[in-house]
Amino acid sequence: MSEVHDPAATAAHRPASGRAIVVHPFLRGGPRGDEVGGAALRLPAARLAEAVGLTAAISLDVVHAIEAPLDKIRPATWLGTGKVEELRHLVDIDQIDVVVMNCALSPVQQRNLERDLKTKVIDRTGLILEIFGERAATREGRLQVELAHLSYQKSRLVRSWTHLERQRGGVGFLGGPGETQIEADRRILSEKITRLKRELETVTRTRELHRRNRRKVPHPIVALVGYTNAGKSSLFNRLTRAEVLAADLLFATLDPTMRGIKLPSGRQIILSDTVGFVSDLPTHLVAAFRATLEEVLEADVILHVRDIAHPESEAQKADVLAVLSDLGVDEQAQDERMIEVLNKVDLLEEEERQRLANQAARIPAVLPVSALTGDGVERLLAVLDEKLGTQREFVEITVDLADGAALAFLYAHGEVVARKDEEGRAHLTVGLDPADKGRFDKRFGPD
Ligand code: GTP
Repeated sequence: MSEVHDPAATAAHRPASGRAIVVHPFLRGGPRGDEVGGAALRLPAARLAEAVGLTAAISLDVVHAIEAPLDKIRPATWLGTGKVEELRHLVDIDQIDVVVMNCALSPVQQRNLERDLKTKVIDRTGLILEIFGERAATREGRLQVELAHLSYQKSRLVRSWTHLERQRGGVGFLGGPGETQIEADRRILSEKITRLKRELETVTRTRELHRRNRRKVPHPIVALVGYTNAGKSSLFNRLTRAEVLAADLLFATLDPTMRGIKLPSGRQIILSDTVGFVSDLPTHLVAAFRATLEEVLEADVILHVRDIAHPESEAQKADVLAVLSDLGVDEQAQDERMIEVLNKVDLLEEEERQRLANQAARIPAVLPVSALTGDGVERLLAVLDEKLGTQREFVEITVDLADGAALAFLYAHGEVVARKDEEGRAHLTVGLDPADKGRFDKRFGPD
């Protein structure tokens, strides 16, 4: 009765409904061994709320949300027998299709729980993979998710909950597939993984080509990062006045969306919207999205968009900084290139808003805004302008008159204050940002 989940099929059309129970298990009092980084700052109630939000984001109807304090983790099922019994009862009377365990289950634990609860069980990694799969907008993003999903599945060989549709009304998931079937499945998965990897390589190469082309018209890149639902897409829209999906859903953006905009000074920049982060982003997912997130590594300025009205705002910030470090954006780069955008100030009390405004007046790298009302957005654009232009230096550059591309670059990115042409060469005095000077040297060589 084994079936291999076909991510290609489910990515295109996935089940839109199902009844779920979300469980957040945590150790009572003791050290939270399963939590790292910013996640350790979170209270169980907030962790549960986050998991409920993520579950709702894949259109599951959350019927119960349960905090499960444990004295110890039971190796067979993570939860103790009493809790399992209680859940099983709920699954039965409320016709639950899937139980979401907000922890990292081993394949065996997952299978045991499915056996005991007589319904599909997914863990946090499985949940995040489902969400990423649903939100992947570009071909590359989809391939990355599929690959991560297949590798995850191969390690456990259980069916994805997306098979739910077919199971619904049936007897549920009872027992694992036979040995030979598992081997066959594993082979099929390996073949798919190989094929996907090859396909992904091609797509990534094309993307690299695009990126190189973009460098030829090298405007500074400003990347928006932030915790999921912080308001990146909304701010991106506000800044570009573009119609990019901004739903009250987590992960509305998965693939970077790039747009060119002009700052008040006339300086052209490329704004890049990226994937939303969550706490405990599974490491192999970070790896899968490395290529996508490389835009962030290359960015001249990183706008860290925060939901300042969220009760867990500080923990979210720590999560985002942890993911950025994982990606290789070190602390120094974070200091130099990052602007913290405190979004959703419209949701704050006047007093709190005033306090933030006073604080921000002292720290130029912190800016309160509201993507919704537009409050603070003009100031943000001005600060960006300033940050990109502060170190504009005037340099003497000589180029061949025949070198149209080099001349065009200087006029497009710099401020040409003097020019003298003689013997087929142009001698220019140009005000250039260090970033643009670097790009010019890289492309046309130092004069
Ligand atoms: P992901 O794609 O999941 O990472 O989300 P995101 O960070 O791109 O968030 P998005 O822009 O989709 O906004 C999430 C929700 O917050 C939406 O319901 C927005 O309408 C809302 N929102 C965004 N900015 C503001 C703001 O300044 N004020 C208020 N009140 N709501 C906002």
